Amino acid sequence: MSQIFTVLGARPQFIKAAPVSRAIAEAGMTEVIAHTGQHFDALMSDVFFEELEIPKPAYNLEINSLGHGAMTGRMLEKLEEAMLAEKPDIVLVYGDTNSTVAGALAAAKLHIPVAHIEAGLRSFNRQMPEEINRVVTDHVSALLFCPTQTAVHNLTQEGIVAGVHATGDVMFDTTIAATERAKGRSTILADLAVQPKRYAVATIHRAENTDDPARFARVVAWLEEAARSIPIVMPVHPRTRKLLTQRGAMPTGLKLIDPIGYLDMAWLVNQSAATFTDSGGLQKEAYFHRVPCVTLRDETEWVETVDAGWNRLWTTSDYAPRRDIPDYGDGRSAITIAEILKAAI
Ligand code: UD1
Repeated sequence: MSQIFTVLGARPQFIKAAPVSRAIAEAGMTEVIAHTGQHFDALMSDVFFEELEIPKPAYNLEINSLGHGAMTGRMLEKLEEAMLAEKPDIVLVYGDTNSTVAGALAAAKLHIPVAHIEAGLRSFNRQMPEEINRVVTDHVSALLFCPTQTAVHNLTQEGIVAGVHATGDVMFDTTIAATERAKGRSTILADLAVQPKRYAVATIHRAENTDDPARFARVVAWLEEAARSIPIVMPVHPRTRKLLTQRGAMPTGLKLIDPIGYLDMAWLVNQSAATFTDSGGLQKEAYFHRVPCVTLRDETEWVETVDAGWNRLWTTSDYAPRRDIPDYGDGRSAITIAEILKAAI
């Protein structure tokens, strides 16, 4: 029986995997999941497996809270062992984290074809660990599933044309399903005592925003200024929580909460008036919910959200005229991907 070996590790990967794992099972393939352990808190990991009904990982590697070299190296070693034991037909990786690049390298060195979901994204900023992870992963992948035409173009520019498929964005599939389930069930607005369309949602976690104290202070000051016009709810990533605690002073005017599950997050964003974030995923989710976004970064991989007037960088003051974005597909991207995987085995 054809077998897919999937590497997951961080929160955005769990979100992307949910519809794909379902489609893989429905297409009659078997899937073995390895969780690297990069994200390990109940609120960063377990809640997503439960809410999104992702199959239980066969391997839990428990590798986390290390520097990039140690983290990626240990993952590489353990994933290679697991792949040698499972002998999969294809290794499937998602996105741009250390778990992604470790899975891709381990498989490529064992001559197992790598399939990359969310291939071709580029920020063109090689200071970002994510950018290095993406470039390396794409260059060792045999199947590259691109969420947008821009991503296809980026790969062409790097000479990658074989195995490239524009499939739409699996996160759109997840958002549709999660919003449907959250509607009428999530009590998050009442729990936080906020009114529909009268608050904004903010998240900050990127190393580029948190590692330099001066930059982090600028981001916090930007949010404090925005909070003078609208109440802001901010689910706080553990990396950011640590920094805020070290810094001593909590931002004023922001409602800081622990990370929340995906259904509550989908509903919180759906009902918000605006989002302020450095997360790639949230920039797109904001568009899926037709909520305007300000990206607290100097560049974005999701350029179509900016071109279509739903997103702007914090370095610019105006949105482009608004329109819809056809690239992200029709909510059936995961099914398309599973069909291509099956045909490739
Ligand atoms: C990682 C990814 C980033 C992705 C993000 C999603 C890399 C290089 N970065 O960044 O691309 O957007 O995940 O959230 O792979 N921590 C906890 N509990 C957890 C998870 C993390 O306490 O469940 C702590 C870690 O111990 C560490 C810090 O948070 O001190 C950062 O975690 P790390 O996995 O290094 O990177 P992220 O910032 O989560």
